[in-house]
Amino acid sequence: MDIVIIGTGNVAHCFGHLLKLHGHQVKQIVSRTLSHARELAETLNATYTDDLLDIALDADVYLLAVSDTAIAELNDQLRLGKRMVAHTAGAVPMSAISRISINTGVVYPLQSIRKEVKNYPPIPVMLEASNDEVLKRLQALAQGISSSVAVATSEQRLKYHLAAVLCNNFTNHLIAQAKAYCEREHLDFSLLHPIIKETFDRLEKYPPESVQTGPALRQDETTMSLHRELLAGDEYLQLVYQVISDAIYQFYHR
Ligand SMILES: NC(=O)c1ccc[n+]([C@@H]2O[C@H](COP(=O)([O-])OP(=O)(O)OC[C@H]3O[C@@H](n4cnc5c(N)ncnc54)[C@H](OP(=O)(O)O)[C@@H]3O)[C@@H](O)[C@H]2O)c1
Repeated sequence: MDIVIIGTGNVAHCFGHLLKLHGHQVKQIVSRTLSHARELAETLNATYTDDLLDIALDADVYLLAVSDTAIAELNDQLRLGKRMVAHTAGAVPMSAISRISINTGVVYPLQSIRKEVKNYPPIPVMLEASNDEVLKRLQALAQGISSSVAVATSEQRLKYHLAAVLCNNFTNHLIAQAKAYCEREHLDFSLLHPIIKETFDRLEKYPPESVQTGPALRQDETTMSLHRELLAGDEYLQLVYQVISDAIYQFYHR
């Protein structure tokens, strides 16, 4: 299939490279920043532009891999008639691109994607389409990205997105907070690498609720109050500590 990608960030890089690997042709990269468009286009052997008026009109699919807020702007600016257009966002309904084309869809990667990471992890893909013809084409396209492709409504996709934020964004942020804390206290963060690895490795064998440990689960008020004292100079982290401890307690003891 011939594809035009609008956007040059994490998802544009990932989809562009995976689709090319699977024999699709990325015809053109479109970005508001010409240098970004050129950089990605050169790695994909594609043409590029920073002008929506120069968009190639003979592609099979147009992928909007732009930030969520930019999707609304493109809905105002871009007119592609009957051409198939899909965005890649979890928390944006398919209706958000309804003015661009009558044939719309969504190709949402349920994964945390960073363009620096070249060995892409498995990426479950969730599709939505305004009609069967779009769905068939997006299914063919998604097979180039993933062996796990499912159909989900905008409402379901938003719920998956929320679950993904809890699993990935929040846990990653807690680890970033732990690292910053170690640095402030002149502790060796690398000593925590094994516990971080174990946290995620064992989820492949056990359900998360069965492997919880820690003072909040044990209702160990003495330890928790010592921890809170250590966080006295960091109001935010103290709040996070308290909220998550309460959540653990409620989950197991309510
Ligand atoms: N990364 C992930 O893990 C992930 C996972 C699932 C879904 N998604 C979804 O995929 C989409 C792209 O995410 P991403 O991570 O690839 O984002 P990103 O790396 O931040 O890249 C965003 C892209 O949007 C462009 N952009 C931003 N504001 C714009 C505007 N006002 N007008 C035109 N273009 C604009 C940026 O252009 P410039 O280069 O000019 O700034 C850039 O090319 C989002 O809808 C996101 O929710 C991301």
